[in-house]
Amino acid sequence: MLQLDSVTTGYGRVSVVFDVCLEVPDGQLVAVLGNNGAGKTTLLRAVMGLLPVRSGSIVFDGTDITKMTTNKRVRNGISYVPQGQQSFGQLTARENLLLVAARHGTAGARRMAEALDLFPALRELLGRRAGLLSGGQRQQLAIARALITGPRLMVLDEPTEGIQPNVVAEIQAAISAMMSDSGISVLMVEQHVGYALKTASAFTVLASGRVVSTGTGGADAVVQAREAMAL
Ligand SMILES: Nc1ncnc2c1ncn2[C@@H]1O[C@H](COP(=O)(O)OP(=O)(O)OP(=O)(O)O)[C@@H](O)[C@H]1O
Ligand SMILES: [Mg+2]
Repeated sequence: MLQLDSVTTGYGRVSVVFDVCLEVPDGQLVAVLGNNGAGKTTLLRAVMGLLPVRSGSIVFDGTDITKMTTNKRVRNGISYVPQGQQSFGQLTARENLLLVAARHGTAGARRMAEALDLFPALRELLGRRAGLLSGGQRQQLAIARALITGPRLMVLDEPTEGIQPNVVAEIQAAISAMMSDSGISVLMVEQHVGYALKTASAFTVLASGRVVSTGTGGADAVVQAREAMAL
């Protein structure tokens, strides 16, 4: 579904991510792990076309998207939920969702209903301004909004950062449900190794912008990933 081949990217003339190779197979979740400042967000921004790729290539569903604009990537089926639960704080939760749904006609309305099925708690909060929602509720709103574009690949940056454990479990369940119900593939950045590897089929650990460990999911993976992050 997504293939990164030796991707180097960064800010201005300074590279902060070097030679990253990574693959997200169709229908699978791949986790990118690493400590603060490792380059995880930078890598996702390059996947979305928000930062230029200095060398290497990105292929999505057989198409080279390395130089494609962000809008076109979204139209092709990649949806991005940035770090930090961003929404339009002055608008209600409903208005935040409708902003996206309106651009997608009847499919948008249908997918908005499906997204709310995935996050039933949001239904009760539709009239509330997004700025007044809790962090966990805002994260659910951000994922719901991203789903309305009808993605085949979801790119999630630390969806559980700063969120209490019971809401983390809800978000995890919703991610699993969107994968099983809609066949969506996921590229997810996480710092909670145990949580990330519950649903991941593979993981990549970044340190100082480089891949320092890779592996498949499962119980051994947690030990392997934690050791790589402790180096
Ligand atoms: N806009 C920017 N301009 C220049 N350097 C930046 C910019 N944003 C991030 N960096 C640098 O790039 C490196 C990687 O940052 P990045 O945000 O990708 O890390 P991260 O792994 O997502 O960290 P965190 O877990 O804290 O979110 C850091 O050294 C950071 O200081
Ligand atoms: Mg980050």
